[in-house]
Amino acid sequence: PSSPDHPRRCAVIAHRVLAILASDAFTFTAGVTTGSAFCGIIGQPDRRCEYTVMGDVVNTAARLAGLAAKKEIQVACLASIEAEVLGNSWQNNPEAKAFRLVPAGKVMLKGKAEEVAVCELVLIQETGGPASSGALYTSMRAGATTRELYGRDRELAELVQFAMRDTASPLACGSMLLVVGGSGIGKSALLASLCGVLEETAGKMGEVSRGQSLPPVVVRVHISSNDYPEPLHACHDILDALLEAHGEPRWGVSCKLEDLDLRRTPTRTIPVPIGEHAVELAEVGKIQAPAGRLAGYVELYTKVIRAICARKRTVLVLDDAHHADYSSICVLHAVLQPAKNVKDAQLLARKQTLKNKLRVRLSTIRLDPSTTPHGLCLVCAVNSAEDPGIVSDTESTSAILSPSIISELQDIAEEMQSNVMSLEPVDDGAVLLIAQAALTSTCRLAKDLRALILNFSQGIPLYVTEICMWLRNRVKIDSDGIMRLGSTVSVGGLVPPSVHSLVQTHIDNIPADLQLLLRCASVIGTAFEEALLLEVVQQEIPTTAGTLQQHLHRLRELQLITLTQGGHWEFQRAMYQQVVYQSLLYKQRRAMHRAI
Ligand SMILES: Nc1ncnc2c1ncn2[C@@H]1O[C@H](COP(=O)(O)OP(=O)(O)O)[C@@H](O)[C@H]1O
Ligand SMILES: [Mg+2]
Repeated sequence: PSSPDHPRRCAVIAHRVLAILASDAFTFTAGVTTGSAFCGIIGQPDRRCEYTVMGDVVNTAARLAGLAAKKEIQVACLASIEAEVLGNSWQNNPEAKAFRLVPAGKVMLKGKAEEVAVCELVLIQETGGPASSGALYTSMRAGATTRELYGRDRELAELVQFAMRDTASPLACGSMLLVVGGSGIGKSALLASLCGVLEETAGKMGEVSRGQSLPPVVVRVHISSNDYPEPLHACHDILDALLEAHGEPRWGVSCKLEDLDLRRTPTRTIPVPIGEHAVELAEVGKIQAPAGRLAGYVELYTKVIRAICARKRTVLVLDDAHHADYSSICVLHAVLQPAKNVKDAQLLARKQTLKNKLRVRLSTIRLDPSTTPHGLCLVCAVNSAEDPGIVSDTESTSAILSPSIISELQDIAEEMQSNVMSLEPVDDGAVLLIAQAALTSTCRLAKDLRALILNFSQGIPLYVTEICMWLRNRVKIDSDGIMRLGSTVSVGGLVPPSVHSLVQTHIDNIPADLQLLLRCASVIGTAFEEALLLEVVQQEIPTTAGTLQQHLHRLRELQLITLTQGGHWEFQRAMYQQVVYQSLLYKQRRAMHRAI
């Protein structure tokens, strides 16, 4: 055992194997124990050679596996490893809640003097689809970051409390909480943790009080940036994720009611909440005037989303909500209205900016007051309106659009008398913990190194992670186990780089072919389609669609780009696109723009 958490890692692997085999009609048993063993390649290279493990622990594990078969359990382990497997140190690990150890009595193992207590490693079952089990669902394509969260205990507790209140009454009306903060302050990280905690709580609630107060369905959606936002684009992503989470079928690539032709779509692929509005859908589709048509779809999306949320309390977590479009904001606003007010609510007199710059007013949404009240709980994260962005570039359309969307959301929050949570920089202790996690797991950081990080980051987590990335090649660990700046740099002589150049260094360190890809993508915009990117890249070097895809996935692993709900790619942060774009020579930009 070379790593201190080897029992946990072993349990995790056993759990993964179990998860894989659970879907096949395979039976297997395993024994898990811990201790020293001999392992290595044994034999004669030209005859027979095998990797093998030997020793007392190996025999014990084999006996446990045999015992498991007799007891008709799958994975047996010694009870003595329980503390190590379920220790506090990894309570936040998402895999911790995927299994547990159940005592399976004491047994006499061959070759042992005394009886030993054994446990069964049980995979916590996900019963049926997410909707039927009342289990909870987080959209996996939401750009998850499941890193440890530091210095946000109060905020996280407040969010969880907000999301969990009224769980006993699924008939509560909508509520909303707006999380506001500058780019890199940790909004996405906070929302990811929120979903993690809710998921965990729901797991426990599901076990303890099945049927009494049902845990909510949790859906996280990252609203993708779009240089040319299409009306209702945020609703497409939201509807897609909601249907998936509620176990409804989805049709086509994205869930656009505007493109749904009920006559041509097989009935079984039409979700019930949409089928119920078939007549209206057909009518709206016939409207010729763009404004009227849009108003019709806003009303339809509102009804469909309300209907879905009426089935089961839903916590909808929208990250980067400032990328949403006006029409989608109208929908969300209407969805949040309490049912009893709906009849005469003057919901919408909001300005609509259509693609053709036509400004229209939407009619009042007419909702049937008898529709079931629902319990939508909306948590939105937006960049603060005054956030200048790290690299100022006002050319980007989204930069122009977002302040107004933010103020729309703020108006709604105010109207609903709901909270606005403003994220402030984290404290010094948290900064150092983030740095520690990014740089080293074991060493202490030297005083001057700590001072440098604190001074540079100003409590902004993104700056901490970026400077640590930059520091990685500039630090050394001394024999006393303390991490210090390398001999070539002294703090006095170190000019703290700008965030811009930090990001630049970050990108300069990836392989050249990936950099080329990023450069081509940056010319297209913050979001880009694979097919178009392929064309642009092919102007530069010969590439196949397969290679491109591989490279894109590598860039995703490096957390530089993400795949959106709608199936296109985008830069993980607008800043990354801007940094790459600005690194291009004017001539290169022009040539590439021409290719587009
Ligand atoms: N409280 C925190 N503890 C640890 N890491 C954090 C914390 N907040 C943010 N981070 C990290 O900092 C980076 C930027 O945070 P992010 O949530 O993406 O910011 P935002 O969404 O506000 O732009 C991410 O890599 C994130 O994992
Ligand atoms: Mg974010």
